[in-house]
Amino acid sequence: MADVDVVGDHEPLPSQPQEGLRRSSIGLVFFKFIGAVLLASAACYLFIGNFNAWTPETENHSLPLEEQDGLNIRSLRKESIVKEQQLKKEVCDLSVGEWVPNPAGPAYTDKTCNRIPKYNNCLKNGRPDRGYLYWRWKPRFCDLPPFDPVTFLHAMRHKSWAFIGDSIYQNHVHSLLCQLSQVEEPHVIYHDPSFHIITFYFPSHNFTIYEIWSPLLLYYETSDDDRDSSKKYMNLHLDILDSTWTRFYNQYDYMVLSGSPWFYNPSIIFEKNEVIGCHYCPGLGLKEYGSAKAYRKALQLSLNFIATSEHKPFVIVRTWPPNHFEAGESPTERVCNRTRPFREGEIIGTRVDLKMREVEVEEYEKAAPIIARNGVRIELLDFYHLFLLRPDGHPGPYGNSPFDGLKKKNDKNDCIHWCLPGPIDTVNDMLMKMVMNGNAHDSASAML
Ligand SMILES: *[C@@H]1O[C@H](CO)[C@@H](O)[C@H](O)[C@H]1NC(C)=O
Ligand SMILES: *[C@@H]1O[C@H](CO)[C@@H](O)[C@H](O)[C@H]1NC(C)=O
Ligand SMILES: *[C@@H]1O[C@H](CO)[C@@H](O)[C@H](O)[C@H]1NC(C)=O
Repeated sequence: MADVDVVGDHEPLPSQPQEGLRRSSIGLVFFKFIGAVLLASAACYLFIGNFNAWTPETENHSLPLEEQDGLNIRSLRKESIVKEQQLKKEVCDLSVGEWVPNPAGPAYTDKTCNRIPKYNNCLKNGRPDRGYLYWRWKPRFCDLPPFDPVTFLHAMRHKSWAFIGDSIYQNHVHSLLCQLSQVEEPHVIYHDPSFHIITFYFPSHNFTIYEIWSPLLLYYETSDDDRDSSKKYMNLHLDILDSTWTRFYNQYDYMVLSGSPWFYNPSIIFEKNEVIGCHYCPGLGLKEYGSAKAYRKALQLSLNFIATSEHKPFVIVRTWPPNHFEAGESPTERVCNRTRPFREGEIIGTRVDLKMREVEVEEYEKAAPIIARNGVRIELLDFYHLFLLRPDGHPGPYGNSPFDGLKKKNDKNDCIHWCLPGPIDTVNDMLMKMVMNGNAHDSASAML
């Protein structure tokens, strides 16, 4: 259908430059609210344990990101987390576990879902290996049943979800739509002229999904003029939320906010409409404003908005996405050609990404009790660790048409988005567990 092409093609990535995206890394996981403290201490442990030489002060932010350290494939120790988990058995940290073989394979294919954008359609684009489709995530301390679209749609009757983020979140929304469309085809009932807000509607269930393009959560301006290098910066306003997501906030029953590597992109930073610095803008004579600091501000402002609003959706904060660019001296040479998941302990990710994840966990932990007191259910979905273990799930050279993919193998490796079907389908299992397997007061489980 016509909608599909438009949806699939819009802004898969920021146009230029891509260094930021190449640096990002993540894993997906859900945390129970009480589990947040465990997560935070775990994150600190990992961070300090492995990078005690690095502090924000010693990071040279003017270094082009591709010159910073690469994907860190070495020991990651999670024993301490596991120990704490065992002491608190009632909390199931969905992020602790392993990818185990799943002979059943994916819930859909490129034949049964016509909504897979070209850049994620690895099957159709000729990716030869299929092993990456046959894994499922098994949390160590609880079960994670596969997403059940019938039960989900039934529970979500008369409800709405908003997914807010960048192209990686769109990647997940497409996965969700593919799974739901096995039961009912959604219709696109609204989009704005730039496709920054797309509303999908499931008429038989009166269920609505809002896909909202807001990669920075904050208000930003970009230049349309790619040829003029003085205009390659975004103007990022640290004190103004992006109305793309706040405007219809009152309509969302469930909302997922997600971290985005867009914060790595070169930007001029504004506060009260005054320039207060920039991120990665050598030569402009402006003070460096670190991406982690800008991200922290974005989270604080967003979480404060949630804490002080009358409306009370179920809020899920999703952590940073990992990438798996490896080898190669230049970004164009980097590849992600592994065909198996990592085991726990084999990979740690990049220090810049770990910093971003630390920031989001800290801000979440600070805000969550306040938000909860305001009557809002809020949970953390730690994407980073879970998906860091899946270097095999990206399109790599199979992100475009089969022809492009084979001809320009090293030209356009996509090691940040995910193949559909693919590992990111697991997020649906987790969302379902999170919202429907909650305590007795959980409105969704009460409806079942
Ligand atoms: C940071 O990196 C830039 C560009 O490589 C260099 O010119 C500058 O001297 C470095 N600053 C510090 C404090 O290391
Ligand atoms: C559909 O759901 C909305 C709430 O999201 C509700 O206001 C409306 O009455 C519902 N429509 C029908 C036909 O049940
Ligand atoms: C993956 O890419 C690296 C770097 O280009 C290469 O050395 C290696 O042989 C490749 N592995 C496979 C299985 O293709």
